[in-house]
Amino acid sequence: MSGRLSGKRVLLTGGVANIGLAILEAFVAEGAVVSVVDIDAAKGADVEKRFGGRVKFIKADISREEDIKAAIGEAAAWMKGISTLCLNAGVQLSGKVDDFSTSNWDKVFSINVRSNFIFVREALKYLRETGNASIVMMSSLAGKRGGAGLTCYSASKAAVIGFTTSVALELARDGVRVNAVCPGWIDTPFNQPVIDFIGGKEKQESLVPTVIPLGRQGTPQEVAPLFVYLASDESSYVTAQAITVDGGIYN
Ligand SMILES: NC(=O)c1ccc[n+]([C@@H]2O[C@H](COP(=O)([O-])OP(=O)(O)OC[C@H]3O[C@@H](n4cnc5c(N)ncnc54)[C@H](O)[C@@H]3O)[C@@H](O)[C@H]2O)c1
Repeated sequence: MSGRLSGKRVLLTGGVANIGLAILEAFVAEGAVVSVVDIDAAKGADVEKRFGGRVKFIKADISREEDIKAAIGEAAAWMKGISTLCLNAGVQLSGKVDDFSTSNWDKVFSINVRSNFIFVREALKYLRETGNASIVMMSSLAGKRGGAGLTCYSASKAAVIGFTTSVALELARDGVRVNAVCPGWIDTPFNQPVIDFIGGKEKQESLVPTVIPLGRQGTPQEVAPLFVYLASDESSYVTAQAITVDGGIYN
């Protein structure tokens, strides 16, 4: 199938690598125009070059409010509006609660949670204008159930779910749907902090068959289709949901 996102003007954060890049590839294949917002300028230049006129890269540090405002302005000017907000960028820091610093806690929350609030607030005028807008936020299985070493990350992703459901209810009559995606163990370098915490790659691999009912980790390409569905008009009756894609762990 193709063209499921034709006419959509998407602002996607973290779209230069791993899960975000898989989302970008799927969105472009389905006909969307995408403004990719990320802190990594080198990878950003690569995606802009690869996708020609369909993708614009905008460098921003989403822990900074002024960067978010500037990125939204630039994206809306380039795409002549914003119909779809996909807030995928995030960070993970791991460690025992005894040793976890307040500055690391604040860093994770500013990127994983606070940025979502600022993006939504600042992009709302564009989203409302479109009449059938969609916001998709990246949460995590860790936002639904805890994990040792993940106190801060897990709390941040639970906050994303709380924000998603509440803002969805607020915007339900405004033509703006809001949903969250909660992946489980997706095989990207992102999980290195918690892999180190539990004792290394071998230990993690030994846990996979017992922890994951499908018996393996997921791939970024297995997460992206849920973003396509939630961004498209096929999900026109779906809002205020936090949907898990985790090989059956959460049930
Ligand atoms: N990999 C997993 O197992 C997994 C599971 C559940 C949820 N997630 C979530 O999926 C998302 C993407 O994860 P990934 O595995 O692709 O990791 P990743 O590290 O490859 O992607 C994160 C992206 O966010 C960008 N980013 C980080 N800090 C930023 C900042 N301050 N400003 C702008 N951009 C910034 C990075 O440059 C990168 O492109 C994250 O939100 C993560 O929490 C991942």
